[in-house]
Amino acid sequence: MENLVYISDIYREPEAYTEGEIRVGGWQRTLRDQKSFAFLDLRDGTDFRGLQIILTPEALENYKELAHAGNGAALICTGSLKLTPEGKQPFELHASKVEIEGKSPADYPLQPKRHSPEFLRTIPHLRPRSNLFQAVFRLRSVLAFTLHEFFQKRGFVYAQTPIISFSDGEGAGEMFTVTNFDLNHPAKTDKGEVDFSEDFFARKAQLTVTGQMEGEAMAQAFRNIYTFGPTFRAENSNTVRHAAEFWMLEPELAFADLDDVIACAEDMLKYTIKHALEACPVEFEFFNNFVEKGLIERLEKLVNAEFVRMTYTEAIAELKKAETEFSYLPEWGDDLQSEHERYICEKVIDGPVFVTDYPKDIKAFYMKQNEDGKTVAATDLLVPYVGEIIGGSQREESEEKLRARIRELGMKESEYEWYLALRRYGSTRHGGFGLGFERLLMYLTGVKNIRDVQIFPRTKGFCI
Ligand code: 4AD
Ligand code: MG
Repeated sequence: MENLVYISDIYREPEAYTEGEIRVGGWQRTLRDQKSFAFLDLRDGTDFRGLQIILTPEALENYKELAHAGNGAALICTGSLKLTPEGKQPFELHASKVEIEGKSPADYPLQPKRHSPEFLRTIPHLRPRSNLFQAVFRLRSVLAFTLHEFFQKRGFVYAQTPIISFSDGEGAGEMFTVTNFDLNHPAKTDKGEVDFSEDFFARKAQLTVTGQMEGEAMAQAFRNIYTFGPTFRAENSNTVRHAAEFWMLEPELAFADLDDVIACAEDMLKYTIKHALEACPVEFEFFNNFVEKGLIERLEKLVNAEFVRMTYTEAIAELKKAETEFSYLPEWGDDLQSEHERYICEKVIDGPVFVTDYPKDIKAFYMKQNEDGKTVAATDLLVPYVGEIIGGSQREESEEKLRARIRELGMKESEYEWYLALRRYGSTRHGGFGLGFERLLMYLTGVKNIRDVQIFPRTKGFCI
């Protein structure tokens, strides 16, 4: 709209807006009536901070009406900007005209008081206007850009891999089916089973759990690629770290081994954290004050730290000698429970740790088998309070070994023929990892529930 100034521009260079009048459009956060005048806190979302506006009955013919516009109302304010270096705010706008673009009745749920995260989760359409979500969702945007920037600067090709998939890329059987059938009357075979050959794709289609398989095909042509997009998992885990729809960033590197994969992950995290801290100082200040005390210091330390590495076998040994009583006894061969992961990075390391060389039976079918015959060249990056934020591996590049593993696990070999064929035509050593984007956001903000870093979260049994 004509001549509407952004609040972020005013904060950047207040002096540029002090001559004549300016117009600002935004939403009323609060209105404090002081009898002879009123303070309006206007937010336009371009800056975490608001613009303080002074309303007086002398200057405004609709002064009385404004008292009833309501918190949340959309307003366009015209006035002159005065610098107030002695005041709490660096400047304020003395309004000469306020147009009510859209009123907001008294039942507006976001009143100026502390709301619980549980309550805010019930209003995902309005919570982006609250402080926490202003900070989280701006960081989410900046972080996505920064990740792209990291990979683009290094020549990685951004591969937009498909969402609709015909094979289970993790072999974990946690996929959502995509169908066009009338669910009350799906086509059936003679045996009475659902006949997907009659469905939209003439075969069973599902939502992807990973872009890795197609990413490997791209890496065998471009050397270094990354995917970044939504992935879906019908996991039966109702935890604060699992979502049914989440974003994953997955680089894949050809002519690379597990050490290259780990080095890439470490560089990526340091770059991203450093740049996010620089780009969002006000937001981090907020997280530091209201979500997790000491957050900024923790992150700054990380940017310069050497990430620790530990094998799964060493981790089990640490857990076995721990004095903590775990609900699950740590045993070589079992997956690490989140209490174990937390113990390792919070108590043993006090920082992030790459755990490597897991037993092959608790990891995905495609991981490269180590020479010991028991473990695979895999790594998980564990961080305090969140647990696993990255999972990666070197891939099995031998067609024979990969086919044998697929058979051994009783997987549908026919779904993986093109993936196996990649190993036949100029197969290289290669590997990559998947970064859980929401998990990274949790780690960078101190927010403890994945539902509070997603815009309209989709989790088991809870969707609006
Ligand atoms: O460890 P995962 O399952 O690895 C893969 O999907 C590989 N294909 C990645 C690769 O090597 N290209 O998932 C990777 C990461 C996890 O470390 C975790 O951060 C996140 O994705 N993740 C989830 N985040 C939120 N909700 C869920 N249900 C998640 N499942 C995995
Ligand atoms: Mg994993």
